[in-house]
This record gives sequence, C-alpha cells and structure tokens, in this order.
Amino acid sequence: MLGKMKQKLHPLLIKHLGRDRLEYFASNTMNIATQAFDSFIWSYQCQAKIIEVRQETADTKTFVLLPNQHFKQPLPGQHIEITVDTDNSGSPTARCYTLSEIQQDTVSITVKNNPDGKVSSWLHQYGRAGMILNISSPRGQFIYRSQEKLLFVSAGSGVTPCFAMLKALESTKKPVDIAFYYRTRNPEQTIFQKQLEQTGQSVTVNFSYSQPKDTSSQAHLPHQLAEMYPDINERHIYLCGPESFKNEVVAHLKSTGYDLDNLQVENFRPPEVSVDESSRLEGRASVLLKERNIQFEIDAQTNQTILEAAESQGIQLEHGCRTGMCGTCRTRLISGKVSGQQLGNSIYPCTSYPASSKIVLE
Ligand code: FES
Repeated sequence: MLGKMKQKLHPLLIKHLGRDRLEYFASNTMNIATQAFDSFIWSYQCQAKIIEVRQETADTKTFVLLPNQHFKQPLPGQHIEITVDTDNSGSPTARCYTLSEIQQDTVSITVKNNPDGKVSSWLHQYGRAGMILNISSPRGQFIYRSQEKLLFVSAGSGVTPCFAMLKALESTKKPVDIAFYYRTRNPEQTIFQKQLEQTGQSVTVNFSYSQPKDTSSQAHLPHQLAEMYPDINERHIYLCGPESFKNEVVAHLKSTGYDLDNLQVENFRPPEVSVDESSRLEGRASVLLKERNIQFEIDAQTNQTILEAAESQGIQLEHGCRTGMCGTCRTRLISGKVSGQQLGNSIYPCTSYPASSKIVLE
C-alpha cells in the first residue's frame, strides 16, 4: 500500500516541483523519520527508480529510469554510471551506459546482455519496475555541437548515443541533414529498427548486416562509407561501437583523407594509447596556449603529460577522466609535435607528451 503510494508520489513530486525545488525541499526536511519514510527522495545520493522495462531484441532491454532530485539535466549523447553490488560482497561494480532517450522527467538506458558483464547481466536478470539504482549525474562530451550535416556511424549497442541525438534533433525540428549508418548482425539484432525506419524524410538510414539471412541483400561495409556518402567530407561524423569497428572506420576515414577534426568518437574505456618513445623529447619544451596567450614549459625529465605539466605550474586545462576516454581535454595542435593519442590535428593533453621543443595549442 505504502509502496504503491510512493510509486505515484515520486513522478508527481519531480514533475510538479521540479528537481531544483525538490532538492531544496528534501534537504530542508531531511531527518531520520523522512529518510526512513522514503529513502528515494530523502536521500543524499543520486538515484533512479526503474519505472519500465522493455525488451528491444532477444538480448537487449531498455530500462526507463526516473532519477531523483540530485540528477542534473543530461544532453543527448551523454552517459551515466550505474553502481550495483551484484554479489552483495560490499564491493559494488560501476559501469557506464549511454542514455538512449531523454524524456521530460525520465531517461532510458538500453542494455545488451553481456554474459561476462557483471552489471549488464545483473540488470537483465533482476532489473524490474520499482527497483532503485545508484547512478551518477550525466557525463561525457560525445554531444551534438550544432553542425548542419551529420553522419552517425554505429554498430551493435553503440547505436544508443547516436539514437539519443537523432531523437533530440528530430524533436527540435532543426534543419539538419542527417545520415545514419548502423551495422548489426541481422535485422533481429537491430536495436530500434522500427523507430529508425520511421524517421522523417530529412534522415537517411542505412542498415548494414554482417550475417544477413537473406544473403542477396547488399551490405555496405564500414570501409565503404566514403562510397555510400559521396558528400562525407561535408559531414561531421559521430562514431560509436566496438573497438574493432571503430578502428576500421577510423582507418578508412584516414585513407580517404577525411578531416579527422570533424570526427567525434565515443569511448567507454580508456583507449590504448601508444606513446612513441623514440619520438619523446629529451630536453625542455615550451607550450603556447594560443587563445589564452599563456605559455609554460615542460621538462621531459619529469615524465609529465602536457596536462600534468600545466597543472603543476598553476595553469588549469579543461579535463575530465585524465585517461584519454572522455574527450574533455581534446584540443587542436596548431604546430609542433606530440607523442600520444591523436585524431587528425586534435590531441588529448591528458595522454600526450611533447615530441618537439615548441608546441602551439589552440
Ligand atoms: S580525454 Fe578525458 S581528460 Fe583527456
């Protein structure tokens, strides 16, 4: 009875008070009694309640979540971290999931059941309406940046951030020219297939199957993107999917001369950054941040990344994960050389070392 009342109360409180006012209200009424009455609202933690579970494909489910007042408004393409003590060992496991859809008060995650994945298999087995999860606020820089011509390239469950951006763009009715390439095994394993088939006329959707039942159907391979989209050089590309797929697409784009500064890549784990030791500088390097007109020096002996060297001299560079994953620190290399992760002329100061004595960054 009380449980049912709360089921109805939570969406109403969030909808009518809004998260900011609810945060103020809950923090001012927080005590042992209110916490015992309802630990979802009277909580210091960012949490979300599962309000619906939908089967998308045989091994993929969408969980619609109602986050509490500590959740910040997400941008399409961002992800959240979910923390679950899957084996009640007292050592919870955290995993990132992209928001596949953002509604007014709720967000959705679409999770493929990975038998080796602790959290995804746990969610598939136990996740049901009414369950409360510990989540983070939204994170990530894989977000739409107002470009007018886009190409979303995804594979498998990597479709989720691209789908979230597509839905958001459709709802704003912005005149954006969108092409959408999605590679899966076959139609049965294609997440959001119906929704993608029903997109508006301004969106071109191309499915590509690696194991089609109808082998006569033509599959466009990732290394045929430039053939499929003759205007690819005018499009900003958002790429998400398994590592091997992303590597294949990036290699293809490089081979066609595509400007990799126009490519956004989503990573869910730190990329393997190969630092070319032979190209690492041995002496000192000066780094100029052109737009801020700030210069600092790096002594290669200290073995500091460009980010660490800046910080050690009191210079703040925008950053997040510090592992080359989130893209927050990504900046343009105007001149000079660095050793580390690089996409076109873009470098990641958190994983880059100087490879020339003078470096100019945007
Ligand atoms: S990529 Fe996250 S801080 Fe550099």
